[in-house]
Amino acid sequence: MRHVIFSYLIGIFVLTLGLALWLSGLWWLPLISGGLLCVGIYDSMQHRHSLLVNFPLIGRMRWIIEDFRPFFQQYLLETETSGRPISRMFRSIVYQRAKGSVDSVPFGTQVDTYKSGYEWIGHSLSALSVDEVDHNPRITIGGPDCKQPYSASILNVSAMSFGALSKNAVMALNKGAALGGFYQNTGEGGLTPYHLENGGDIVWQIGTGYFGCRTKDGNFNELAFQEKAALPAVKMIEIKLSQGAKPGHGGILPAHKNTPEIAEIRGVTAGEDVISPPTHKAFSTPVEMCHFIQKLRELSDGKPIGFKLALGRKSEFLAICKAMIETGITPDFITVDGGEGGTGAAPLEYSNSIGFPLREALAFIDDALVGFGVRDRIKLIASGKIITAFQVVKNLSLGADLCNSARGMMFAIGCVQSLSCNTNTCPTGVATQDPKLYKGLDVNHKSTRVATFHKKTILATVDILSSTGHGSTEQLNRTHIFRRVDQQTIMRYDELFPLIEPGSFINEETAPKRYQLHLKEACASTFKPANTLAEINHETQSV
Ligand SMILES: Cc1cc2nc3c(=O)[nH]c(=O)nc-3n(C[C@H](O)[C@H](O)[C@H](O)COP(=O)(O)O)c2cc1C
Repeated sequence: MRHVIFSYLIGIFVLTLGLALWLSGLWWLPLISGGLLCVGIYDSMQHRHSLLVNFPLIGRMRWIIEDFRPFFQQYLLETETSGRPISRMFRSIVYQRAKGSVDSVPFGTQVDTYKSGYEWIGHSLSALSVDEVDHNPRITIGGPDCKQPYSASILNVSAMSFGALSKNAVMALNKGAALGGFYQNTGEGGLTPYHLENGGDIVWQIGTGYFGCRTKDGNFNELAFQEKAALPAVKMIEIKLSQGAKPGHGGILPAHKNTPEIAEIRGVTAGEDVISPPTHKAFSTPVEMCHFIQKLRELSDGKPIGFKLALGRKSEFLAICKAMIETGITPDFITVDGGEGGTGAAPLEYSNSIGFPLREALAFIDDALVGFGVRDRIKLIASGKIITAFQVVKNLSLGADLCNSARGMMFAIGCVQSLSCNTNTCPTGVATQDPKLYKGLDVNHKSTRVATFHKKTILATVDILSSTGHGSTEQLNRTHIFRRVDQQTIMRYDELFPLIEPGSFINEETAPKRYQLHLKEACASTFKPANTLAEINHETQSV
């Protein structure tokens, strides 16, 4: 094939050379064809790409088309319901709500209601008028040991660090949170001046790197924590155990990204690699974690303390519950993140195939807290592809008290899902540290957008509530949501995830059989399964 290509290239070069000799104004033609011939010769001699050796010059089309593929897909080929990870339909509703433009749909649903997995909420013949429903539903977070409970919106900005997001994006989200009365979670990158400039409520997330509250050798620093936790903007503190998109995976901030500004914010030395280990140094067992929660509670003068996790092994969460019972210490909130959750950058296998998806994780964690009789002390926050009011209502029905959204909020400030968060080339300036790109993101303008998106989504939630005949989100439960399991079978969430008798897990024998194996594995003094599976199998067989 390359002989054919070279015949053409040489032929074109000779032809254009002849033309240029005949008409002197065309001198540039042989320059171009000669240049292309040289590229072809280079391609055929290099050794990195066999495609280019076999198809010199024209093989380059592959890379050019690959580069443009996402644009062609998004702008020309995508249907309303396609587009990954977030479909066009859901991106569009965020843009419409954020801009305050028409957010109704014409002519009926684009969703296939007969497809397995289709879900819906049942309305009621005793629907309420929208005016009868609380238009600003809020949830108070803070168990019996909390001295400064926080009244949270039912939809908030999920954890996203400065570093993953640009400073303008952080400021726009924060100002939007202040305008709309919801909170912004800092992400594990720490609390920055950009989180504090505009007066939005803050949930300060503390990851394994303890950024902003770390000693020189990377341990937890009580004094630094105390100082920041006392800031009035900091309403709650979240210990990050894991996130759905890359659970159990530590992180590394490479030296070149560790600028003096980031180093100062994170409390590290600029220009060095900074490691976030996969686990915490401040505790290594569930009991120790409970004591750490208590320590943070005391150091923060009683602000709500919680933790975020993606569910890995069920027994590990049950071990945490057992530790709560043993120590009498409970967190004020738990954020459950689903495997479908977003991230700035993660290994493919972690994003695709590690950790429980939100639905099963949320149901299990809600059940476990009920089973151990501590559910009334702890608020549950759900995150993982929560963008529309139905997704809010669905998760509240399943077991959550409130929700966080990361990518929904990113769309509200202009993200176009260009899938470039990990390359520092985000064209909308949302997820980049390149000043040339983020200076295009207008903080004031985008803060209004994010506040409007929030307001309209809450109104849509209120609308759905009124149609179900309920005046408050707390009245939602698993009986409200239906799922098409297959062509013949429709099941309600309470059939798929049967409710648990409160307190029934405290004694293993009274727990439903499907939980007993996991309860046996769980031990308050270790996150790891206490018994080997072989032992458990032996025991269960002999029962
Ligand atoms: C750009 C980006 C950065 C993130 N950074 C963090 C982080 O620092 N800490 C964390 O716990 N989760 C982080 N997440 C995960 C989100 O907080 C959230 O759990 C997840 O994206 C699920 O929500 P979504 O589907 O609404 O995006 C990040 C997500 C994105 C998209």
